[in-house]
Amino acid sequence: MDATSQRLLMCRPTYFAVDYAINPWMDPSAPVDAALAVRQWEQLRQTYLDLGHTVEEITPVPGLPDMVFAANGGTVIDGKAMAVQFRDPQRADEAPAYRAWFEAAGFEMYDPKHVNEGEGDVLLAGDHLLAGTGFRTAHAAHAQLQEVFGYPVITMQLVDPRFYHLDTALTVLDEQTVAYLPEAFSPGSQAVLRRLFPDAVHATMADAEVLGLNAVSDGRHVVLPAQGTHLAAKLRDRGYETIGVDLSELRKAGGGPKCCTLRLRQGKASK
Ligand code: ARG
Repeated sequence: MDATSQRLLMCRPTYFAVDYAINPWMDPSAPVDAALAVRQWEQLRQTYLDLGHTVEEITPVPGLPDMVFAANGGTVIDGKAMAVQFRDPQRADEAPAYRAWFEAAGFEMYDPKHVNEGEGDVLLAGDHLLAGTGFRTAHAAHAQLQEVFGYPVITMQLVDPRFYHLDTALTVLDEQTVAYLPEAFSPGSQAVLRRLFPDAVHATMADAEVLGLNAVSDGRHVVLPAQGTHLAAKLRDRGYETIGVDLSELRKAGGGPKCCTLRLRQGKASK
């Protein structure tokens, strides 16, 4: 298996906290070790650097504790960047901050017409864009994604509130393969996934409950939560190299490695 070197965007969790609850993982009354969150995030960043990826950083903004979840900052494919529109007012001000970063970095900008939480719900799998809906990204946003990026968009209906973003229920492993938790999807979406990815890795609830599917693959190495041990074993059986990282503090906000990571896809050649 060939590894592709990736250009990634991350946001240091300088102002990370769990101050509000917009998903079932978040409990503002539970203690969070903010210093540990930063160290764990630094370890994730170092893991990417060790794999040969390029990591860019956006400056964190005070008062936006979830800005660390860069995957929600946009969708960037073939040099085009689509900005986001959050469902919840608590995250609304992240959208212009990320938009300004993409613009300064020279991406061709597109603005969302509907709720659209970026790569949290929009995953490029080979030549298909898998787009989640049910909790965050609006179904209407899927048509705009297809129009902007020119990839066929496949709607994925999420049904379990714990797996509120597509990237908590499904991981793209390479151009042909994904791993997912079947029961996080509606029956129709499960049928679509079986049709598109007959060789997919099926994760268990035990893996999904530690956000094991919130993983980042370069086609060969899969960076996933250290607690996702069953999934890691299945991936190794398939020939992937797995690298476990502990993001226990960020998980208290409902996020894992993938949530902290936005893929910046330049042009056709380096998608
Ligand atoms: N607390 C954040 C939220 O609920 C977590 C976002 C996780 N991001 C992701 N790509 N799944 O919006």
